[in-house]
Order: sequence, then C-alpha cells, then structure tokens
Amino acid sequence: MRTLITGGTVLSSTGAVEADVLVDGERVAAVAAPGVFGEADTVLDAAGKYVLPGGIDAHTHMEMPFGGTFSSDTFETGTRAAAWGGTTTIIDFAVQPKGSSLLSTLDNWHEKADGDCAIDYGFHMIVSDVNDATLKEMESCVDAGVSSFKMFMAYPGVFYSTDGEILRAMHKAAGIGATIMMHAENGIAIDQLVAQALAEGKGEPEQHGLTRPPELEGEATSRAITLAKVTASPLYIVHLSAAQALAAVAAARDDGQNVFAETCPQYLYLSIEDLAKPDFEGAKYVASPPLRPKEHQTDLWRGLRTNDLSVVSTDHCPFCFKDQKELGRGDFSKIPNGMPGVEHRMDLLHQGVVAGEISLARWVETCSTTPARMFGLYPRKGVIAPGADADIVIYDPTAEQTISAATHHMAVDYSAYEGLRITGKVETVLSRGRVVVDRGEYHGSAGHGRFLSRDLCQYLS
Ligand code: URP
Ligand code: ZN
Ligand code: ZN
Ligand code: ZN
Repeated sequence: MRTLITGGTVLSSTGAVEADVLVDGERVAAVAAPGVFGEADTVLDAAGKYVLPGGIDAHTHMEMPFGGTFSSDTFETGTRAAAWGGTTTIIDFAVQPKGSSLLSTLDNWHEKADGDCAIDYGFHMIVSDVNDATLKEMESCVDAGVSSFKMFMAYPGVFYSTDGEILRAMHKAAGIGATIMMHAENGIAIDQLVAQALAEGKGEPEQHGLTRPPELEGEATSRAITLAKVTASPLYIVHLSAAQALAAVAAARDDGQNVFAETCPQYLYLSIEDLAKPDFEGAKYVASPPLRPKEHQTDLWRGLRTNDLSVVSTDHCPFCFKDQKELGRGDFSKIPNGMPGVEHRMDLLHQGVVAGEISLARWVETCSTTPARMFGLYPRKGVIAPGADADIVIYDPTAEQTISAATHHMAVDYSAYEGLRITGKVETVLSRGRVVVDRGEYHGSAGHGRFLSRDLCQYLS
C-alpha cells in the first residue's frame, strides 16, 4: 500500500521545502522534488498545505488517579482526541502507588492502554516510593523501554520525595543514563500557605494560584538543578510556568549541565486572571504549577525561541467541571489538579507562529522533533525521512477555527480555550501510514496504536 502526499510544503526542525512524500506501508519511503514519484494506491493533495511530522506529546495523564477521582480521558478517548489535533504519539505517566513496585505499576499501565490507543504511545514512570528495591527496578524499567522517571518536590504525603530520596534516584539515573523529570514546586512551603489561606476562610480557586507563588517554583527548580549537578544526572523540568524557574534552567544550560525543560500551552496563553473567574469557574483552570500573571508569558515565548525551553507538552489531565472540579467547591485544595489540552497543542503553537513568537521550524522542533530526541524515539518519530514511521500531518495554515467544548473530542465538559480563534487547522493525519483523520472525518481505531519501547535521551553531553 503506497500513499503519495503531493504538492505540499514539507516542514522539519530545520526549515521548509516543497516536496512530495512517498509512504510505503507504515513507513516513509522517500521525500523528493515535486512530481518525481509515479503511481500510488492513494494520493493526498497537499497543495497550499504544510506536511509535518506528527506531534509528540511527551506529557499526558490518561485515566490517572488523582484527588479521589480519575482524569476523565481514557487511553481510548484521549488518544483519539490527540489524533484529531495532529498528535500521533503520546508519552503517558505510569504512577507508582506508595508501597508497590515499579514493574507491577508498569504492568498496570500496559493493561490500561494496550488495545485502546488510536496512536502510538510510550510511558514515563512516576516514582513516589524511593527504596533499594525501587532503585534497582529503575534498571528493569529502562530495559522495558521506560527511560525517564518523574519525581515530585510538591504534594507532600502523596507523590512527594525528600531531597535525599531525589538524590538517591538521581544517582541511580546517572549510573544508567536515565532522565529524571521533576515537578519542581516547594510543596512543604506551599502546604503551609494553603493551610493559612484555608484558616483565613479563603477557599476560592484563585487561592490555588496565590498559595503557589512563582518564587517557590524558582526555588525548587534551582534545588533540583543543584541536586542533578551533584549527582551528574540528566534533568528535565516538566511543566515550567514561571520566569524564575526559566532563569534557573537557562543558567544551568549556559553552564553546560544536562538540564532541559518543557512548558505547556496553558502557561503561554492563560493566566492567573482565569483562575480568578467568578462562580467557581476558576476551578476549570486549576493545575499545578498554577497559571501565572501574564508577564511570565513573554519570558516563556522567549525561552522557546532560545531553546532554554526545548519542548512543548500539554500535561493533559482533564477533570470534568460538573462532577469532578466540584469536589473542591469551598476548598480549593480539594479541586483535582489538571487541565485538558491534548487536542489543541499543535494549533495553539501554530498560533504562536502566526503571532510571530516562534518560527515554523521551531513549531515542528518543540512539538515533534525535540520530544522524539529527548525521549529516545528519534529518528523513528519526529521527522519525515526515509525509514521513519509515517506519522504525518497535513496542516492547512489558512483555515480558521474556534476552539470549543461543543466541537472538541476530549472526554471533558469544558474547554480552557472556549471561543479562542485559531488560524490553521489539521486536515489529514497519518499514523504509521494509516489515515486516521481526514477533512473532518475520523478513520482511526482503538488498538491501532502500539507501545513504543524508548531509548535513552539523545541529547546528553
Ligand atoms: O495539575 C497537574 N499538573 N496535574 C497533573 C499531574 C502533574 O503534576 O503533572
Ligand atoms: Zn483499557
Ligand atoms: Zn507535575
Ligand atoms: Zn503532569
């Protein structure tokens, strides 16, 4: 089965070229000057469109247990929504409950995802119980294709690890070439601020932002970087939201340390003003780290340009407004933390191109090529080149759309971007050569997506 994509502008992390793409079965067979290829079984006309490698969202939480409930997208609904938005790979987080093993956790996540996904998927491992057995199991995880481990400086009593535990895990990671991913917020200090606010009768969603100030993200980020330096561990800061944290990452990178960071669309487009919306509406925007004052957005866009922020992921962790966010009415600390977004990352970052914040090449690099390299998937993913998986998006850069819960495909009853106008729209999506989305129609199926066994980070110096 040969598919020919003709007449488009083929994008990569280094630029754009007018070319045709020949897909043979599940892989890219060749990229060549327009008109070079002959017959094919299917021809997709991409004239006037971009042809880019499928998006890789390296930070999602499908069916994640949190705050007494589960994130509302299953692997089936969440990966379908991802495909609609031009994302053809997700890397989701398996969550180790305290007292259980990493390998049994991994088995559980395979059971949740296998046979359900519309697109390919991999796993990171959340380590919440550091002990001799867990540290040893990190090696088996790497052998099983899970080469990155998330730890938390936030959420004492839940996922939190002490500096000592982090140091031990980083030492192990350094020894085996794995990456430590860090949720960098000072959870001990935050819990005090939360308790104070609640004692003063301040229970509304805006307090979520006010009790998690950006300084406490900056402090934790600096501390994580210091611990990584002492242990020579690769470090990847997840969901970076604050200028203070970005400054710490930039300084470490200038120093030549193996420190990397991602940000998320919500920190580029939304702000603490959204958290302050009346009638509990702010609960829709509760995620950690919290949305920041608007000024931080300028720094984040600059960080994307300078590569101090290397990746854009969504941290997709949806909870319905009606019955899930509701758990925290009157007590913001009980609002399940997380926001939906897996469907709109490619569009929102393309909007950054339209607005002149980033280049086309940077769009592709931060949303596809770099996540592939960062998490050991390149060159199978993240590029349109001979031999790569034919994960390809045909994107119409001039189409107009309005984001809305009424039209999105995520299993959640609101959109954080309701009413936002976007220039650009996904037209066709191929996942390993198969057309899964085409001009507003869905042709994918649960179980098409395969587990991706990942190598180590491909950026280490
Ligand atoms: O609020 C968030 N970010 N929820 C998802 C879990 C995490 O910390 O990434
Ligand atoms: Zn399942
Ligand atoms: Zn986190
Ligand atoms: Zn997350």
